[in-house]
Amino acid sequence: MSSLDVLYERLKRSKEGGGEARIKRQHDAGKLTARERIDMLLDRGSFTEIDTFVVHECPHFGMDKRKIPGDGVVAGWGTIDGRLVYIFAQDFTVFGGSLSEANARKICKIMDLALKNGAPIIGLNDSGGARIQEGVSSLAGYAEIFYRNTIASGVIPQISAIMGPCAGGAVYSPAITDFIIMVEKTSYMFVTGPDVIRVVTHEEVTKEELGGAETHSKVSGVAHLTASSDAECLLKIKKLLSFLPSNNLEDPPFVENEDDPERIETELNNVVPEESNVPYDMKDIIHLVVDEGEFFEIHENFAKNIVVGFARIAGFVVGIVANQPKYLAGVLDINASVKGARFVRFCDAFNIPLVVFEDVPGFLPGTSQEYGGIIKHGAKLLFAFAEATVPKITVVTRKAYGGAYCVMASKHLRTDVNLAYPTGEIAVMGPEGAVNILYKKELANAGEKEAELRKNLVDEYRKKFSNPYIAAEKGYIDMVIEPAETRKWISRALKQLRNKRDRLPPKKHGNIPL
Ligand code: HXC
Repeated sequence: MSSLDVLYERLKRSKEGGGEARIKRQHDAGKLTARERIDMLLDRGSFTEIDTFVVHECPHFGMDKRKIPGDGVVAGWGTIDGRLVYIFAQDFTVFGGSLSEANARKICKIMDLALKNGAPIIGLNDSGGARIQEGVSSLAGYAEIFYRNTIASGVIPQISAIMGPCAGGAVYSPAITDFIIMVEKTSYMFVTGPDVIRVVTHEEVTKEELGGAETHSKVSGVAHLTASSDAECLLKIKKLLSFLPSNNLEDPPFVENEDDPERIETELNNVVPEESNVPYDMKDIIHLVVDEGEFFEIHENFAKNIVVGFARIAGFVVGIVANQPKYLAGVLDINASVKGARFVRFCDAFNIPLVVFEDVPGFLPGTSQEYGGIIKHGAKLLFAFAEATVPKITVVTRKAYGGAYCVMASKHLRTDVNLAYPTGEIAVMGPEGAVNILYKKELANAGEKEAELRKNLVDEYRKKFSNPYIAAEKGYIDMVIEPAETRKWISRALKQLRNKRDRLPPKKHGNIPL
């Protein structure tokens, strides 16, 4: 055999992964192989693989006789829409994609390259966890990866797709990354599985109920996105990347389009009901304002009382944070605060301007919220908005009450442009609540006339305080605008703020109330 033949033979073997039978099993489970996933995600022919010939060094349990080139992870770099990305994909057909010392080194090498070269890292997870035969060496591999995830946080975007099992401590690498996308039915994530739970807490729960895509996208909020298949998952990663810069020193990609930045949208004049308590869908406003109506929502099914996601306005990528009056009247609770805060911090880290649509009656009252720590969780959102130095634009569409007024990117948190619709109500609280407190004695003594007195007082309070003009007179609101002109105002604000420079005082890092 010539030396070239040896190379070809070795390359051929490396492509076979765990062999035909295991590849068939992977396909029968509705999953693509690691290589198929990479091919589908990256631009055609752009994948450059390294460490193809890496094998494990484990002498135990007969492993010395079972060595498969690549050792259960495929790693390298390539392009998506012409932009450089680094990628690793765990190969479930090889030792169940389990993490060995050797394949952890491959992943770390790719992560180091991604960090040094300022390009996103994408991890396609499909693994039985720590390589059991290797013991602590495998755990060391995990810790090396976690460390790199942490150091890369805020420097390069990190995206984790969960496309099979991801259990035990293995969940913590995706958990540190910026976005987790899970494939429905074929993926699951949990720290301890159903069998351990049965023994420890006597609960009966299936893998899907415990850690499937639905659970993590609706209940725990661990997953930011879900997909119905591997192919859809990979498409969503591409879409997500189209909104992100390659690293924290770049701006997100500007994309010119046909949509007139000054488009007047008369329909917007009719979205917010005049009556203060009638719900409406904030997403109607978002779709009417953004370029070509395209909104890429993050955490769509978790804490629906706040809406977050990416869009473009006048070609600029923006991160949108919006209260959703359609769910729980748009109130801020623990989950909404944490969801919003994390998104705001991501946008700030990666130079993505924030556009806030505000209609919030306040924080959700109740013992479950107070015992759950709404004080510290609500503070996260406040902290995140206050700390953010990217361009910030707020549009108050209706209610901006109480502490929630302060929190939602108010002028006082260094927001650059604060706008309000004529339907805006900027006050300490709603008229009913205010009247109950201010006129407690008078109402108690009013006897039969209580209802009438209450109505008059509420009307009077509403007239006086439930409007945007007091805040506008003080300059806390820069302008009260006709809703039809929202896009024009935001486009002009974004252009004006394009070269915004703002900074925090020198410090190691802040102490966000975790
Ligand atoms: C070595 C493993 C493995 C592992 C799976 N395999 N997990 N090999 N280490 N952790 C191997 C299997 O032996 C099998 O090899 C092949 O991968 C496919 O596994 P199956 O069990 O046949 O597949 P399936 O029925 O689909 O079940 C998948 C699974 C199961 C649910 C993931 O394999 C499983 O429970 N694995 C162990 C999970 C686990 O406890 N991991 C350690 C978690 S603790 P053959 O040769 O037969 O094809 C942990 C700590 C990390 O990860 C801590 C970091 C801080």
